[in-house]
Amino acid sequence: METKKRVLSGMQASGRLHLGNLLGALAKWKELQDGYECFYFIADWHALSTCYEDTHEIKGNTFEIAVDWLSVGIDPEKSTIFVQSFIPEHAVLHLLLSMITPVPWLERNPTYKEKQEEIKNRDLTTYGFLGYPVLQTADIALYKANCVPVGIDQLPHLELTREIVRRFNYIYKKDVFVEPEEILSETPKLPGTDGRKMSKSYNNAIYLSDPPEEIEKKVRSMLTDPRRERRADPGNPEICPVFALHNVYSPSPSQEKLQGISRGTTDSPAIDISEISDQCRTAKIGCVDCKIILAKNLIKKMQPIYEKRCKLKSNPQRIYEILSQGSKKARKIAIATLKEATEAMGIHMEAPRSTR
Ligand code: TRP
Ligand code: SF4
Repeated sequence: METKKRVLSGMQASGRLHLGNLLGALAKWKELQDGYECFYFIADWHALSTCYEDTHEIKGNTFEIAVDWLSVGIDPEKSTIFVQSFIPEHAVLHLLLSMITPVPWLERNPTYKEKQEEIKNRDLTTYGFLGYPVLQTADIALYKANCVPVGIDQLPHLELTREIVRRFNYIYKKDVFVEPEEILSETPKLPGTDGRKMSKSYNNAIYLSDPPEEIEKKVRSMLTDPRRERRADPGNPEICPVFALHNVYSPSPSQEKLQGISRGTTDSPAIDISEISDQCRTAKIGCVDCKIILAKNLIKKMQPIYEKRCKLKSNPQRIYEILSQGSKKARKIAIATLKEATEAMGIHMEAPRSTR
């Protein structure tokens, strides 16, 4: 039997998931479930690297992210879903790898520098923040993952993972760990309500957990083509964030319309994006109406996910069960790999029974 390649990826427990996450990472994760043996985990310890002073949201976020995943179809029957901190071997391997990782490798990591520039209101001078990619390497190496689906921003981290893995295998003369390859998930150019990229740190995101009323409120508050000041002014959909969302969530022109064939039916089909674009350019439609149409279409698309979410949330016990079952399964692998690693290092010892 051909064995499936192993995929592993994680998300930091630093907030609920939004439409950008769904179109990017989660869509890819879901797709991979059928062709690979998938491991998806919530990196709650990674969240500490930036939030160690204020930890009160980490536990709640871990739970909410699990609900988000399940609601969009990450399936515990197909994938192993787990929590980083349920598996202490992540911390142990992180320690061992930290012993062989040269600090300059970490200091020259572009993500490290960028984040320090970007996040000015928190102290990021800690050892743990510098070592973030070492913990990430432990996450990946413990499961000997062949492929890691990530966004483009994570490529420097994955390169470091490969370097650390190579160094370990070289020093201890045994190919214990596997050098993983990336599977790039598209980074959707999805704007948030203020026109900047949708991101929880910009406070402009629409979340999977937003109820329909909230989605409508957010859409109504969206920025539009700033040069369209009056209702009679023509607009430019190409620079309008509302239109960017129409592009994803509203119907595209139907085949019949594209070919100029009349359908000869009385039911008027929903207005499509080419019509919205035309009506915007000619000032036939106003921004308020345009947003109402978007809100309706977006809510319609998100409704099934929202309903599934509510159902899942009504049984939190079940969520914890899924997470602990997944963690149990993952931990078996983690324990075996850690044993191989300490054996290769020549430091493996069985702890006396009484301390186990
Ligand atoms: N650093 C990743 C992010 O911020 C999260 C992460 C932690 C991860 N450990 C991982 C991703 C291991 C892939 C594999 O998105
Ligand atoms: Fe944007 Fe729609 Fe207004 Fe045009 S009509 S500027 S697409 S919100």
